Amino acid sequence: MTGAETEATRQGCDKIRLYTNEVMTENFAYYAQPGYGARTSGSGGPGMIKTERLLLRPLTSADTEALLEYRGREDVCRYVPFEPMTAEVIAHRLATQWATTELTDEGQALTLGAEITATGELAGDVVLFWRSREHRGGELGYVFNPRFAGQGYATEAAWALLALAFDELGLHRVIARLDERNEASAKVARRLGMRLEARLVSNELFKGEWSTELDFAILHEEWLSPGS
Ligand SMILES: CC(C)(COP(=O)(O)OP(=O)(O)OC[C@H]1O[C@@H](n2cnc3c(N)ncnc32)[C@H](O)[C@@H]1OP(=O)(O)O)[C@@H](O)C(=O)NCCC(=O)NCCS
Repeated sequence: MTGAETEATRQGCDKIRLYTNEVMTENFAYYAQPGYGARTSGSGGPGMIKTERLLLRPLTSADTEALLEYRGREDVCRYVPFEPMTAEVIAHRLATQWATTELTDEGQALTLGAEITATGELAGDVVLFWRSREHRGGELGYVFNPRFAGQGYATEAAWALLALAFDELGLHRVIARLDERNEASAKVARRLGMRLEARLVSNELFKGEWSTELDFAILHEEWLSPGS
């Protein structure tokens, strides 16, 4: 297997570090559970986030074309807070926000590419924002290539990030905020077991139109005991 090697090391319960090297290790710290789950191996050893069908790993310049294919599309960007990306914007992101491979404090975000293990194709990317250290709050985001839609990849990848947020980072609550018209996104949030907490009517002037925001959330205890 080729690509970036990443090691996830738990630093207490408030720090995650992912190291990137030349060669990928088979010694993963996170393993898929039947269904979507990605839980830590308990070893605290080196590894990447591996789910049943995906490998979550840092984005690199080798992903530029694949990123452009979906992040460059008007329809994909309809309800996200950025415009269709050019190769230049992607290069800038790769050198800045997406170069972050560790979460060490609030205000940071970890973006990981979701690679289909069987084919090596980049299906999309997911992000975990660490919003508050004091309140142990985070926020989830996901953007996927429509070519890979309808196969559960976004839910599977987001599920793994929730595992990271709760099991490794020790977060208490993770939210997802989305435009009410973005039904596909709301379905992902619901499939993750997130509760609809708020509907903020026309609260934001978004891309020239008033946007009604839906706020979803899941607590650590709900993550531990789904359906309770
Ligand atoms: C939001 C977004 C990621 C959702 O993509 P998606 O393909 O609908 O979501 P998933 O990959 O989780 O696939 C779920 C679908 O696959 C189906 N599916 C098929 N095989 C599956 C499997 N093995 N496991 C789970 N679901 C499976 C599910 O039933 C579901 O279908 P449904 O929507 O008809 O009920 C995508 O629309 C997107 O990237 N949009 C643009 C960016 C965006 O708006 N992001 C969110 C910002 S808030």
